[in-house]
Amino acid sequence: MQHFLKETDFTPDQAQEVFHLARDMKASRFSSPEALNFQSWGLLFFKSSTRTRISFEVGVNELGGFPVVLDSQNTQIGRGESIGDTARVMSRYLHGLVIRTFGHEIIESFAANSTIPVINGLTDFNHPCQLYTDLFTFLERINPDTIDISALRGRKVAFFGDCASNMANSWIISAAMFGMELALAGPEDFAPEQRVVDALKAEGLPVNYRFTTNPEEAAKDADLLYTDVWVSMGDEATASSRKARMQPYQVTQPLMAMAKPDAYFMHCLPAHAGEEVSQEVLDSPRSIIFDEAENRLHTQKAIMAKLAELNAQ
Ligand code: CP
Ligand code: NVA
Repeated sequence: MQHFLKETDFTPDQAQEVFHLARDMKASRFSSPEALNFQSWGLLFFKSSTRTRISFEVGVNELGGFPVVLDSQNTQIGRGESIGDTARVMSRYLHGLVIRTFGHEIIESFAANSTIPVINGLTDFNHPCQLYTDLFTFLERINPDTIDISALRGRKVAFFGDCASNMANSWIISAAMFGMELALAGPEDFAPEQRVVDALKAEGLPVNYRFTTNPEEAAKDADLLYTDVWVSMGDEATASSRKARMQPYQVTQPLMAMAKPDAYFMHCLPAHAGEEVSQEVLDSPRSIIFDEAENRLHTQKAIMAKLAELNAQ
């Protein structure tokens, strides 16, 4: 069973096919009503969501399927039913399952016990649907016709803030997978964790990111500046110390000015203007955050269709 729990669950060739499919689905949004024909897909949330929930719900519909939106509190998971039993039961009703949860081991346990494809809608470790969307959005700016992954090679991405977060991990893995240069800037105590280095090694990928405490150094000559919230879901208890520590890493216009003149700004959203990014940057012509948000829909439709195709073989 082919799942999509991490960026490397598709080969680069398969990722290229996903991006081409996303391009075609974006150009003709209602052109694939058969891809999930008569399929029911569960969307199971242990955490809040706006974009992931809506884009998957709409996306399943547009592919001819039926979304079943669930959360952990209002299912028996909240009363202690095991992940293994839940996965086995859900596999008897559903054709696929998107899960947003806390520990990455929870989604791995779901996948190990499922006979249907499982898609990672965010864990504390990574957010691969977001990252594939981000790459698609960046490639669309480089050349909307080709969306060619080879154009990623050598591009410099700069990530600011919580460099031990799920989004930072997804960028670290993707930079290694697609040959991008990645500089991460944040406080020393929010440097990338050993577990992401272990993940790279387990996949046979190079450890090719650079971490710095100097935001200007990271921004210099970058093609893309990226940030995410300073307080991820589950980190609320340390919110005030995080905000104090990360203030120097806010993405501002002076920081944007250190990058290439045609550099873009992206953010997975939700954004907190005045914290990780200034309102001015969010509103600037270099900010492509709402294309990025829209592209969740097209990219995830392509991911679901690709999984359905691979699992039918
Ligand atoms: N970027 C993202 O995943 O947004 P949501 O938390 O709203 O789903
Ligand atoms: N790092 C953020 C991403 C939200 C989409 C979080 O986990 O809350």
